[in-house]
Amino acid sequence: MDLREAIKRRRSIRRFTGELIPKDKIEELLNLAMWAPSGMNRQKPYFIVVKGEMKDKLVDISRKAFNVFISKSLKEVFKDKESVIKESERFFYTLGSASIVICVYRISTVEGELTDIQSVAAAIENLLLLLCEENLGGCWMTGPVHLENDINNMLGVKGKKLQALIPVGVPDVTPPTPKRKEGRVEWIGWD
Ligand SMILES: Cc1cc2nc3c(=O)[nH]c(=O)nc-3n(C[C@H](O)[C@H](O)[C@H](O)COP(=O)(O)O)c2cc1C
Repeated sequence: MDLREAIKRRRSIRRFTGELIPKDKIEELLNLAMWAPSGMNRQKPYFIVVKGEMKDKLVDISRKAFNVFISKSLKEVFKDKESVIKESERFFYTLGSASIVICVYRISTVEGELTDIQSVAAAIENLLLLLCEENLGGCWMTGPVHLENDINNMLGVKGKKLQALIPVGVPDVTPPTPKRKEGRVEWIGWD
């Protein structure tokens, strides 16, 4: 798949077949994702790939995050769109039956939060494009990060900041493509 096609075809996948992706495939894709640029070339973005019972515990925490943090704001933003709320609830309650969940962390550097967060984001986008190219899918989620302490305690993580969860699997759905919003580029000095 050509890069332009992958950029346009990548969608957030929120339903998976449940099929397990081989460990060496995930390892290959993560190694490529980590070719992303990083501030001062620190190469700090850090990934924990979770499956099995620990993955099920992540699903429990995601469900709690929805009930405690997400549900209220969704109901405000999508007042007239009950289906959006229901679909979101289903996803947070199940993580789409993904076979694995990748927890993405940043490790603080002297460059600061701005640089560290953007370095992680670059690696995440690389990963999502690679998944798309492999006809696999994932969804970049910050919602469950509200319960960062629960997740870190469960995984035994110390000294790292959780940035996102990415449920990953074989897509069981082809989501529609959202329209692009215009007017987001300004040209100065071009006449
Ligand atoms: C920083 C960030 C956080 C996100 N957090 C969530 C999330 O918590 N739950 C979720 O279902 N989707 C989440 N998404 C996915 C967006 O909803 C999605 O990218 C957007 O609706 C556009 O759809 P597309 O990815 O299919 O193009 C997040 C995306 C980004 C970039």
